[in-house]
Amino acid sequence: MSIIIKSPSEIEKMRIAGKLAAEVLEMIAPYIVPGVTTDQLDKLCHDFIVNVQKAIPAPLNYHGFPKSICTSINQTVCHGIPCEKKLKSGDIVNIDITVIKDDYHGDTSKMFCVGEVSPHAKRLIKITEEALFLGIEQVKAGATLGDIGHAIQKHAETNRYSVVRDFCGHGIGKNFHEEPQVLHYGKAGTGITLEAGMIITIEPMINLGKRDVKVLADGWTAVTKDRSLSAQFEHTLLVTTGGYEILTLRQEERG
Ligand code: MF3
Ligand code: CO
Ligand code: CO
Repeated sequence: MSIIIKSPSEIEKMRIAGKLAAEVLEMIAPYIVPGVTTDQLDKLCHDFIVNVQKAIPAPLNYHGFPKSICTSINQTVCHGIPCEKKLKSGDIVNIDITVIKDDYHGDTSKMFCVGEVSPHAKRLIKITEEALFLGIEQVKAGATLGDIGHAIQKHAETNRYSVVRDFCGHGIGKNFHEEPQVLHYGKAGTGITLEAGMIITIEPMINLGKRDVKVLADGWTAVTKDRSLSAQFEHTLLVTTGGYEILTLRQEERG
């Protein structure tokens, strides 16, 4: 398998899938309040994706994942499984949405604050979102994957955080996860060169403490080994000759 350059008609379908994924994050935002369970959020997203968007929640049954979205709270790095546990004031939670529409995937995530959140958690979230956008700004035909990883790592480490190395961004299209792997650390000018028509995700996971993670007995939930807080943001991007197009941009992100 190698990197798939998308045709104009595939790109059009990816735009639609990306927009739908972004709209799920917009839909769910007002529900993320103290007392809601992540199972309730999962059901709201599932029903919206299936009944309103007429699309498919990609995580459901993906390699055995049991739910339609990922909900990763506090020290959970990624792949948190929705359950009957209630969110409480002070929690930070990543909601990761992937939808399939007309055979193509859109993948995006963001952090939400539940009630009142501590300043150190807010700072971690802010730096992580900035790191994503610094990575995105590297994207254009002729740039390398190392340029992206380097920009992200530099911003995280300058701010005394660590970059998770066990999970990465990815190519995306008809498949949820395609080549290439998009590392969130690295050296500028190294790795494969981006070409117009590639579609990738960038999804840095940044920890307040050390970078090490472990996966819980459920086989999915990845947490920081030192139990420090972790944050993540994700967008799906089209590589263009002059730069990039963010396929999962939300209204709140439009200038
Ligand atoms: N959405 C995740 C990603 O960004 C993958 C989740 S896989 C699942 O790549 F099975 F946990 F849903
Ligand atoms: Co992804
Ligand atoms: Co995702």
